[in-house]
Amino acid sequence: MWLLVRFARVMDGQGPGFHILPYEKTTLVYLDSTGNGARSAVAGVPLRSDDGLRRCKAVGRLEMTYGLQIGAQGKEEIEISRHGMGQGLLISAHRTMEAATLEKSWILRLVADGGYLVLRGFSPSIERFSALVRSVCSRTMLDPAREFSAGMTVQKVDIGTGEIGLHVEHGTNPLTPHLTWFFCRRAARKGSQTTVCDGYRVWDALSVETRRLFRSNDIAYSRNIEEAKWRALASYLLGGAKRDDEITVDDIVELAKAFGDGFQVKPNDDGSIYYVYRVPAAHATLFGTRLAFANSILGPSYHYEKPRITFADGTLLPGDVIAEIDSVSSALIEEIDWQDGDIAIIDNTRVMHGRRAVLDPERREIFVALGYVDSAMPPA
Ligand SMILES: [Fe+2]
Repeated sequence: MWLLVRFARVMDGQGPGFHILPYEKTTLVYLDSTGNGARSAVAGVPLRSDDGLRRCKAVGRLEMTYGLQIGAQGKEEIEISRHGMGQGLLISAHRTMEAATLEKSWILRLVADGGYLVLRGFSPSIERFSALVRSVCSRTMLDPAREFSAGMTVQKVDIGTGEIGLHVEHGTNPLTPHLTWFFCRRAARKGSQTTVCDGYRVWDALSVETRRLFRSNDIAYSRNIEEAKWRALASYLLGGAKRDDEITVDDIVELAKAFGDGFQVKPNDDGSIYYVYRVPAAHATLFGTRLAFANSILGPSYHYEKPRITFADGTLLPGDVIAEIDSVSSALIEEIDWQDGDIAIIDNTRVMHGRRAVLDPERREIFVALGYVDSAMPPA
């Protein structure tokens, strides 16, 4: 893929490593199909050591992803710029193009760099959105408690109109997907933004004491799940190996063992089950070992009973610690102000998301897809 890269000046020593200033120079570079750096320059524009390339590589190649992708006819196709004040990226299509034609490795590298992407101008249908999800994710999951739509990949977001706190999708159970995808078929005219918050930045901004507390103590989510919902979940996990009316509580207890000691399930007398899920609040991500504070401590639960959240030994999280998490993460929130046809791809292992209050529920129509990426992908 050819990229016309408008190199920015790279300022070291500001924030976590470097800071990008507006475009300064322009050159053409070639990225191979795995997205691994520049191989050559063309059109008499040699890459010189002082044009930013070497320094960009030295600080982690992020800068290589900024610029305009040029199509076969030399027309500008895609522009990549920052979204918000953090690392998030806005990918704008300059002409009508299929989002599903974007290369998987290219998308994943951008997600690895930015934590989340907003794709604008691709204007896909639900079916094409679903095709994009399937082209990147090796496996997708549906939430059994949600309303199904459009085949087996995409579901409608249908949870009330109130504000929703920051959370990781399925962060309270071990099925946490790698990527959370949103497709906004119709945007609200006002309000209703999806909020995102980079767990890297939250972890770096928390106090030393709070980081020490979460480094030495896992958290635990515990709750009951009513019979109809755990049955649907068991059916999904069994993948058709057993008829729904043959599934028993022993099946879900047995399935839970696959997730190790961190996930304990017990049957209740009334047909429901009770589970405890133990997990670190800050952890490595899909793309690396750097710790991200990405969890559902602040998040609500609309489809299931609200979980009890404690440390692994059962003690409650101190009120002042929750207040600190709330204020630190609130200050780092970015808002996705949806436009019709927008897609967001969120690294669910790093970036939490939520929602402002929906002020235009008649118009707003957003779909969600959840997926896993096979671990064999090239590192970012
Ligand atoms: Fe969510």
